[in-house]
Amino acid sequence: MTYRRITLPLFLVQEQRRLGGSGVFTALMTDICTTCKTISNEVNRGAMAGTMGYAGSRNVQGEEQKELDVLANDIFLYMIEQSGNWAGVASEELDNAYMARGSDGRYLLLFDPLDGSSNIGVNVAVGSIFSILRLPDGVDPSDERGYLQPGVKQVAAGYTIYGSSTMMVLTSGHGVNGFTLDHNIGVFVLTHPNMRVPEDTTEYAINSSRERYWPEPIRRYVRECVAGPDGPRGKRFNTRWIASMVAEVHRILMRGGVFMYPTDSDNAPRGGHLRLLYEANPMAFIIEQAGGLATTGRQRILDIMPERLHQRTSVVLGSKNEVERIGRYYAEADAAEADAADISAA
Ligand code: AHG
Ligand code: MN
Ligand code: MN
Repeated sequence: MTYRRITLPLFLVQEQRRLGGSGVFTALMTDICTTCKTISNEVNRGAMAGTMGYAGSRNVQGEEQKELDVLANDIFLYMIEQSGNWAGVASEELDNAYMARGSDGRYLLLFDPLDGSSNIGVNVAVGSIFSILRLPDGVDPSDERGYLQPGVKQVAAGYTIYGSSTMMVLTSGHGVNGFTLDHNIGVFVLTHPNMRVPEDTTEYAINSSRERYWPEPIRRYVRECVAGPDGPRGKRFNTRWIASMVAEVHRILMRGGVFMYPTDSDNAPRGGHLRLLYEANPMAFIIEQAGGLATTGRQRILDIMPERLHQRTSVVLGSKNEVERIGRYYAEADAAEADAADISAA
C-alpha cells in the first residue's frame, strides 16, 4: 500500500472509535467542515464573487460589516438551521444568541465567521474561528446564560485559515491537528498531526501604532525586544502584524511567536479589543493544547467567567517562556503600583 493520506472524515471516525464517542461529535465537525469549505470557495473567488465591498450595515459592536462577513455568517446559520445537530449559536455578527429551530441538539456553536476581514480586499489571509460548548441542562438555547461558560468548558475549538492554502486546525482536548484542503477531491487531509508551539521564540506580533496606549508591562517587553543583542534580552527579535488573529495564531503554531492585543488606555472602556467567546477562548484552547500559553497578562484566558456574550478581553498568547515573561512583567508592575499606593497613603 502506498496511499497514506488520512482525510478529515477518516480522522474523525478513527478518533470516535479510539475515544468511544457516539458519533455526535463527528456529525458536528462534519457540519463545520462543509461550512468552512463553502466559505473558502467564496473567499477564493475574490472579486469574481462580487462580495468584496462593505455591506452597508454595522454589527452589534458598531463595526462596519463587509459583504463577506455577512455571507460567511449566513453560511454558518443556514447549516445550523438545516442540520439538526445544534441547539443554538452565538456569533460575532449577531446581536443575540440564536436558537436552532426544531432541533434536539445538545451543543452550542460560538463563532467569528470571518476573522481579519479588513484583509479581504487586499488578498491577505482571513479565517473562521469556532468554539463548541455543551448546552447546560435546563437552559434554553436562546438564553444567553447557556453561552456564558469559561473557556475550560469548551468541548472543541478550531479555525479555518483561507490563506495561500486553506487549512483547518482542530482540538477536542487531545492535542492539535491541522488539515489542508485538497481542492481536487474537495476534502481536508491531515497534513500537520500533533502541532506544537515551540517554547522559545524571537518573533512577536503587536499593532505598534497603538504604542501610546500600551500598559507599562507591554511597553517594557517590546522595548527589551527592540533593544536586540545589546539590550537585556541579548538577542535580535523580529516582528510581524497581519491584522488577522487566525493568521497570527497559525504562524505561532507553525514556528512559535507571541501575539499581544492588550487592554490599553484607549480600548479599556470596551474591555479590550478581541472577543472572549469567539476569538480568545477558542484560540487559547488551541494554543494550550499545543503546549503554549494564553493569558490576559494577569490571568489564564480559559479561566475567565464571561458576563456578556460580546465581552472583550486582553490577549497575550504563544510560546510558553515569552508569555510567562510578560506575566512576570505585569506582576512586577502591579506590585510596584501597590507599593506606590501604600507609600502615598502612609
Ligand atoms: P474581525 O475581522 O473579526 O473584526 O477581527 C479582527 C481582529 C483580529 O483578527 C486582529 O488580530 C485584530 O482585530 C486587528 O486589529 P487592528 O485593526 O488593531 O490591527
Ligand atoms: Mn475576528
Ligand atoms: Mn469577524
